[in-house]
Amino acid sequence: MNLESKIVNALKTVKDPFSQQDLLVAGVVQGLKVTEKGSVSFVLEIDTQYLQKGRELKETLESLLKNIDDIGEVNIVLTAQRKPRANNSLQKSIPGITHILAVASGKGGVGKSTTAVNLACALQQMNLKVGALDADIYGPSFPRLLGINEKPTTDDGKLMNPIEVHGLKSMSMGYMMAEGAPAIWRGPMAQKALQQMLHQTKWGELDILVVDLPPGTGDVHLSLAQLTLISGAIIVSTPQDLALIDARRGLEMFLKVNVPVLGLVENMSYFLCPHCEGRSDIFETGGVHCEAKKLGLPLLAEIPLHMAIREASERGKPIVLNDPMSNESQIYRSLAAFVVNNLINKK
Ligand SMILES: Nc1ncnc2c1ncn2[C@@H]1O[C@H](COP(=O)(O)OP(=O)(O)O)[C@@H](O)[C@H]1O
Ligand SMILES: [Mg+2]
Repeated sequence: MNLESKIVNALKTVKDPFSQQDLLVAGVVQGLKVTEKGSVSFVLEIDTQYLQKGRELKETLESLLKNIDDIGEVNIVLTAQRKPRANNSLQKSIPGITHILAVASGKGGVGKSTTAVNLACALQQMNLKVGALDADIYGPSFPRLLGINEKPTTDDGKLMNPIEVHGLKSMSMGYMMAEGAPAIWRGPMAQKALQQMLHQTKWGELDILVVDLPPGTGDVHLSLAQLTLISGAIIVSTPQDLALIDARRGLEMFLKVNVPVLGLVENMSYFLCPHCEGRSDIFETGGVHCEAKKLGLPLLAEIPLHMAIREASERGKPIVLNDPMSNESQIYRSLAAFVVNNLINKK
């Protein structure tokens, strides 16, 4: 067996830690070259956010290859520029929509919807064409958060027109139901309802669709991630441990379906007093920060618990629009800037 075959065979024994595929099949190893003197070089293409795991993979491969007889120098270059990839042909993009960003959380009540809506508004302020989908069919919150109480219309009886307020196109199961009416969905029905809202809404051209997922990691999430090409996900958590454990579960779910997780957002990070603007760390701080580090993910934002955020939401005008000059709005805008740099402007 020639040296190159030996090298390829050795590489085949290691799986891509993300897709669990053969490294060569997954396209992680690229530009493999073996010289006459037995020097081997190639590029290891890793998603940006998995850099730490990429470094470990590089070390594993270096020691593996150095054990092969007749091998000369081993030169592996690690790059972190690859685009999110689909792991199966079922993951389809939606015509006209360039990126889909999922906003997830392990449990309810952590401020996922508030974050999703403010993020969508902040992206829209950056002159992007933005849509927002309330995928929480069990407890839709867009009618309240965006102050919408009209029903979507249809021109052709096939596609629904999204409701546009503040320049943001949105769709929610809540637009179709009377407020307070309980949604009693069984699994397959829930998935079908979500698929319909995704595919039968006349979104038009969008740079990004922000999807506010239901809390947790249930079937709805899995089917969405398996059927739709999601460019990235953000996980929202509060500083308390319990929420963190769930956030970890969320991360694992996205990794399983090959959706890159851009990072964590800590909501209700600290308390900002509306009277004196003083900061109180009412929860033990650093929890999400520590967890993000452990998981090798960036902490994208620390959003304070502030009355103004809740009040703006209750009035149906997210704080980013209601009080754009506030510190809180600035935090959401930084988060939006991160999304633009790491998703939209990423080649
Ligand atoms: N940073 C914050 N400061 C103050 N109130 C907040 C903040 N984030 C969320 N809230 C409030 O907490 C409640 C739950 O938020 P919501 O976004 O509906 O959570 P989820 O979608 O995770 O269930 C809402 O009343 C919302 O206004
Ligand atoms: Mg919600």
